[in-house]
Amino acid sequence: MVTLFVVKTTKGGRMPVLQAAVDTTSTQYRDNVEVQQAAVAALDAQLEKVVAGGGERYAKRHHDRGRLLARERIELLLDRDAPFLELSALAAWGTEFTVGAAIVTGVGVVEGVECMIIAHDPTVRGGAMNPYTLKKNLRALEIARTNRLPVLYLVESGGADLPTQSELFVFAGKIFHDLTELSSMGIPTIALVFGNATAGGAYVPGMCDYSVLVDNQAKVFLGGPPLVKMATGEDADGEQLGGADMHSRVSGVADYFAVDEVDCIRIGRDIVTHLNWRKQGPGPSLPADEPIYDAEELLGIASGDQRVPFDPREVIARVVDGSRFSEYKPRYGTSLVTGWASIHGFPVGILSNARGVLFSEEAKKASEFIQLANQTDTPLIFLQNTTGYMVGTQYEQGGIIKDGSKMINSVTNSKVPHITINMGGSFGAGNYGMSGRAYDPRFMFTWANARLAVMGAQQLAGVMSIVGKAAAESAGREFDAEADAERTAAIERQIEDESHPFFVSARIYDDGVIDPRDTRAVLAIALSAAHSDHVAGQRGYGVFRM
Ligand code: COA
Repeated sequence: MVTLFVVKTTKGGRMPVLQAAVDTTSTQYRDNVEVQQAAVAALDAQLEKVVAGGGERYAKRHHDRGRLLARERIELLLDRDAPFLELSALAAWGTEFTVGAAIVTGVGVVEGVECMIIAHDPTVRGGAMNPYTLKKNLRALEIARTNRLPVLYLVESGGADLPTQSELFVFAGKIFHDLTELSSMGIPTIALVFGNATAGGAYVPGMCDYSVLVDNQAKVFLGGPPLVKMATGEDADGEQLGGADMHSRVSGVADYFAVDEVDCIRIGRDIVTHLNWRKQGPGPSLPADEPIYDAEELLGIASGDQRVPFDPREVIARVVDGSRFSEYKPRYGTSLVTGWASIHGFPVGILSNARGVLFSEEAKKASEFIQLANQTDTPLIFLQNTTGYMVGTQYEQGGIIKDGSKMINSVTNSKVPHITINMGGSFGAGNYGMSGRAYDPRFMFTWANARLAVMGAQQLAGVMSIVGKAAAESAGREFDAEADAERTAAIERQIEDESHPFFVSARIYDDGVIDPRDTRAVLAIALSAAHSDHVAGQRGYGVFRM
């Protein structure tokens, strides 16, 4: 007789469970929900525009030509019902260019492999690349490189946006540079060419490991017929210059000839199957049960006023597995909450601002915690809500600069994946210490109601006013209080606009604005993508200023 042993894992199950204390009947909670709902509605309205791309007229024209839209191509390419974490959706928001910047990027699953998808949107100015398209495209390639994600490039673009060529021409070369660099690192790159890939664009299939060209649609050439006529006088034919038939039989630029778009997508999926791809990081190792508190309540925690603090444990309790959180140094440096948890089974360390300001104790606690995570190869999640490091004579004399430097040293030299979420405010050097964009988090997202700037609008305008007054005094000029009030109000409005998440995301200072309720799902996809590469911490550090 065979004896069956039932092995019951208690790993991670012994962690303490957070007790949420938020009063969902309070006025404060209801006010918060109202503000967050309005912010999420504004986000949804923008995302609708993003999905519309170049609008109905151009979408219809595209369909009438028998072609699929960028998002339809992506949908067919991805595994059925697989999630797609779209990145930089609000690129170019508020600028002269269409929101979304004529390109769709994101992490999706193809044949069970997490890939970086980059798709031109030919309904927006022929899919031409403007300065925001370029930034978004380069960020997607950077995410592919740092997380070791194969790239699927869905090509159909009119090349450089000619009127703004001066702002993008030089750095557009980085796309081809990055594609071949990825290849040299063993990260596969696959070009699926559905349409125009002229001039510089022709180097996309050229630089990729694999290229698939669609018959009668793909046009891959350094110079089209008019340019060739001008340059050499030759009367060239488009198909002969750069069609799929020619490139697959004659030049060898195409590895595969696709009879139509669906065939091209099928071949693309088939190539992924043959990559023999294996993730190098460990898989989830802890129980992946849902939090015991409702994610819906995440709308009622952060206030609309960035100056009102909130307890980040209320957020953590609604994001991590089973709401389990083992807090580190809970009695020390209490305006930063640190501790261990897991998300969809991936162990993580979490650093989260509690009351906004970072004092010396918080900075030292963060430095220790980051080093501990690196010792155990544990990814770090930074939940930002900070007004920066404490100022004032007492704190300067206490060495706040030295301690802030320790924290920035730890964050900089940390080698485990960082994923950063701005939940409320990301101001001053707190943005740096809490792994802001300049500190290379693998992914960084912003809640729809958060703000990011060097300091709050009111504070910044106030500082400018004080500086102006002092300058007038030292120059012996009379201080014009009325003009100062006008200027102060104008600066405040300007900074308010510039710290808005749409403004921030438009410039790719983050990877997207999210609904707070999606935090767990977004973190899970980002974490899983990060485990495509080895997850290994840094054991040595830069010299700490003690
Ligand atoms: N820069 C700026 N705008 C461009 C553009 C570019 N490279 N390519 C196309 N557009 C604009 C067009 O002016 C047009 O604007 P409109 O609708 O306001 O009139 C819109 O995008 C759509 O272009 P259209 O030519 O009608 O679309 P199409 O689908 O028939 O053709 C292309 C698309 C890309 C094949 C065609 O526009 C083209 O050949 N563009 C120039 C390509 C080129 O030589 N690029 C230089 C590379 S460095």
